[in-house]
Amino acid sequence: MTTIAFDVYGTLIDTDGVVSRLREWMGSQADVFSQTWRSKQLEYSFRRGLMRRYENFEVCTRQALDYCCVEYDVSFSAEQKDALLRSYRALPAFPDADESLVALKAGGHRLFAFSNGAAEAVEEVLRASGLRERFEGVVSCDSLETFKPNPDVYRYFMKEAGASNDAWLISCNPFDVIGAVSAGMKAAWVKRSDRAVFDPWGIEPSVTVKSLNELCEKIASQR
Ligand code: LAC
Repeated sequence: MTTIAFDVYGTLIDTDGVVSRLREWMGSQADVFSQTWRSKQLEYSFRRGLMRRYENFEVCTRQALDYCCVEYDVSFSAEQKDALLRSYRALPAFPDADESLVALKAGGHRLFAFSNGAAEAVEEVLRASGLRERFEGVVSCDSLETFKPNPDVYRYFMKEAGASNDAWLISCNPFDVIGAVSAGMKAAWVKRSDRAVFDPWGIEPSVTVKSLNELCEKIASQR
């Protein structure tokens, strides 16, 4: 029985889901705004981890939004910002998420959501997208007051999930895959776009897939 940790934002849940609302408010700049918002959110989590100035992931998300409003010279009202942050808790799942989780669970694997997000926020977005019941549990880095890719959070996952050495991380985010492999897990990189680039650190994913649907077969082939 393999224990599998799924990254949440960007892997199961599509963070570009805020774009449609942004498009109503700012037209064609919405796409680049959403991408910068996401990369600033992650940058803030990395920096807070390094500086040991922990605030939870929602704070990183809110402060990254404030940053983007200045960078792109848009003045959203407090209500608009609140609405954007609320939509972060109701983002859609990627279309391949549910059926892949069902198949992996049927294959006897133990499935967990494993995220930088606080447990309560992750529970909410998974419930809203209909994925929550596929998981045995939610493991949040918030319990350690630090973020991925600190090696402690991957070890914490393995301990919390009661995982043997045969634990996997599934993520679209190369930094997360490299963090997990470096901490002793196996990891699948989900390369949804042909243009996605993996960091050339010499630490490779155990497998690379184009969609979550390929996971069942690939994980079985690695046993
Ligand atoms: C997460 C971030 C990395 O869900 O997207 O942990």
